[in-house]
Order: sequence, then C-alpha cells, then structure tokens
Amino acid sequence: MVKIKTPQQIALMAEAGKILIACHRELRKLIRPGITTMQIDSFADDFIQSHGAKAEQKGYKGYPFATCASVNDEICHGFPTQTSLGEGDIVTIDMVINLNGWLADSAWSYAVGQVSDQAKKLLRVTKECLYIGIEKAVIGNRLGDISHAIQVHAETQGLSVVREFTGHGIGQDMHEEPQVLHYGSPNKGLRLREGMVFTIEPMINLGAHNLTIDQNGWTARTVDGSLSAQYEHTLAITKDGPLVLTEQD
Ligand code: MF3
Ligand code: CO
Repeated sequence: MVKIKTPQQIALMAEAGKILIACHRELRKLIRPGITTMQIDSFADDFIQSHGAKAEQKGYKGYPFATCASVNDEICHGFPTQTSLGEGDIVTIDMVINLNGWLADSAWSYAVGQVSDQAKKLLRVTKECLYIGIEKAVIGNRLGDISHAIQVHAETQGLSVVREFTGHGIGQDMHEEPQVLHYGSPNKGLRLREGMVFTIEPMINLGAHNLTIDQNGWTARTVDGSLSAQYEHTLAITKDGPLVLTEQD
C-alpha cells in the first residue's frame, strides 16, 4: 500500500531534507585526495546529530554505518574504510536523515580531484538520468514513464542501468511502496498521485549492468570492474509538479 502524505507531512520531510542538503554541501568541500571514507562517515554522523537528527541507516537491518560510501566499481552499500581516497577516484555517499520521525534520503557521487573523461561522462549522465526521471514525476504519469526515460538516456549514452536496486516510497519508514525501477516500459505501472513521496536513485555503470555482492553481505560492485555512479533525491508529487526535498543548489 502506498502511504499518501499530507502537505504538512511533506513539510516535515523537507525539514529532514534541509539537514541532508547541508550535510552534502559540506561533504562537497571535504572530499579531496587523502580523506578516508571513515572520516567522511564520522563527519556526516556528527553533523546529523549536531542538527538534532539521526542517521537512519545506522543499525538498519544491521547496517553498521551512518553512510554508505561506494568507491569506483562499488555500486552501492559500500562500507566506509580507513583507506584514503586518491586523485581520480569517484565516491558515492548515500545517507538517510531522521528528523522527528520523518525521513529524507539522498545519495550523491563525487569526483576526487581530477577524474578521467570517462568518469566525468559517467557522473554527468547519471545525474542527467536522475533529473530526466524527476521531470516525468508528474500527476497522471505512470512509474514506468520514469523508469523508461532513465533507461533510454543511460543506454543512448552507451552506459548501463543496475537492475537489482530501485527507488522506493519513503516517509516514516526508509522503504515503503512503491518500488521505482530505473529501467522499464512507458505507460506501465502505478499512476502517480498527489502526495506520493519516493526516491529516484539510478545506479549507472560504465560497463555491463551485472553486479556481485561482497563477503560483507552488503556491498554491490560491478562484475566487470567498471566504474559505477549514483545520484538520488527524495521527491513529492504535488499539483505543481515534482517537489525535490533534497535539492542541493
Ligand atoms: N539509502 C539507501 C537507499 O537509497 C538505503 C541504504 S541501505 C542501508 O535506499 F542499510 F544502508 F540503510
Ligand atoms: Co539512499
């Protein structure tokens, strides 16, 4: 069942979103060659707590950290480590903020120093995929319209869409209905209604879409070792169009 949110509830989620936005803005400045993803995780955890909120991922189904930090061929759910990021790496930081019981979820990929042209293209196209999906998030459209637009854009650019992880409804729980696929057919799936709140979070690979899961039971990485990127926003469906609750700019 999709839990429709009132404007008041959406406003509460937007408050959580504001903290998430501020945290990502700080990370943007912090992420440089030499920093470790464990340092990034500690910074984010402290930042969230000092704003009166909670890092919802910590302890979620046993996940041990405030953030997921996925480097290079890691697709998602990377564990923060003590290894320094190096010039040319890309890293995706994903986190969920809980403020007074209402959640906001956003992942962002960052370039570490100067990155290759291929990496730049991957980052650019993955972000475009997110915004192309958001454009389709209007009342009367169907979920498949979002899915299809994302897939077409990625594949037209010679990139591939990860199939195993999806966007999701969100509210007082991190994962609610519906699932939002990043590949699929137009004019299929649930029709979008005012008050739906969900994430769109395409994971796009430079090579094949296939993945493997690490021994830790969490971290997904590309089978072929190619780079993977991800951008994720939490958004609400409103009469005036999609309202992004985690927009950084
Ligand atoms: N933020 C993730 C998402 O976009 C969920 C992370 S899984 C967790 O759905 F266990 F780390 F929380
Ligand atoms: Co997320």
